[in-house]
Amino acid sequence: MSEPQVFTAVEPFRRALDAARAAGGRVGLVPTMGALHAGHESLIARAAAECDLVAVSIFVNPLQFGDPTDLERYPRTMEHDLGVCRRLAVGAVFAPPVVALYPSWPEPPSTVVSVRAEAAGWEGASRPGHFDGVATVVTKLFSIAGRCRAYFGEKDFQQLVVVRRLVADLDLPVEVVGCPTVRDRDGLALSSRNARLSPEDRRAATVLWRALSAASAAAAAGEDRPEALAGLMASVVATEPRATLDYGAAVDEETLRTPPRLERHRPVRLLIAAEVGGVRLIDNAPAALGRRPAERPAMAGATR
Ligand code: PAF
Repeated sequence: MSEPQVFTAVEPFRRALDAARAAGGRVGLVPTMGALHAGHESLIARAAAECDLVAVSIFVNPLQFGDPTDLERYPRTMEHDLGVCRRLAVGAVFAPPVVALYPSWPEPPSTVVSVRAEAAGWEGASRPGHFDGVATVVTKLFSIAGRCRAYFGEKDFQQLVVVRRLVADLDLPVEVVGCPTVRDRDGLALSSRNARLSPEDRRAATVLWRALSAASAAAAAGEDRPEALAGLMASVVATEPRATLDYGAAVDEETLRTPPRLERHRPVRLLIAAEVGGVRLIDNAPAALGRRPAERPAMAGATR
């Protein structure tokens, strides 16, 4: 156990990371909104294995929430989060108040980063402004942190694609590392939002993983029509009365557009979003035509 240095202001945090680099160290940044769970822990562990200084940011970014109730209900568990960081030997925690990053708040900042194509559909269509909020805060965090490796979960697959795009387009000195989704033993992807599910809704929420698994198996068995895979996911979700599907889709992993057909050597992602008991849940899985995809899900509490 070691005590992380906790920063609430931008400049001291920036200087600490600069100092680590000046001493020859590699910096790993894990951006989070707190409520840390085993999924975040896997990102921190990967960063610790690859970097000399691990910095975790904990900031519930108001700019990425369209719905004020959603923002209000977002879990805030700072003591627990600091305990996780202590246990995993995180070197620096950046936990700024909202005005440290957005001095004009509640007036939003004048400059906003907008990723166009990759942010347009799916979550972007269902949650207008969400990815502008994500892209803006991530760009700020990268600009403060400087040259680093930044670790993101594949659970928010579209977010990962959006972040990769902004890093490429803005020439930021950041290497983005995507890490596999961590799941409970029944397949539910770990998410800070799961804490808001009642026991019945928690059970019903496994329908997302069941839908993804059915579509992934269909692709492995030779189904190459994206709309058939989407229809299959919809039909699985329809069997669960507590769940309402927003979208299910099979998309190209880089562009997030639906291809006319799946092809053997072109990676495809199955995306799904549904509301269960008033909680919006998203998940995704790789699909490969004619074979089982290589990636095995990481299970919480299991070693991989
Ligand atoms: O994935 C999250 O927790 C957030 O969207 C992120 C990347 C920390 C930006 O606020």
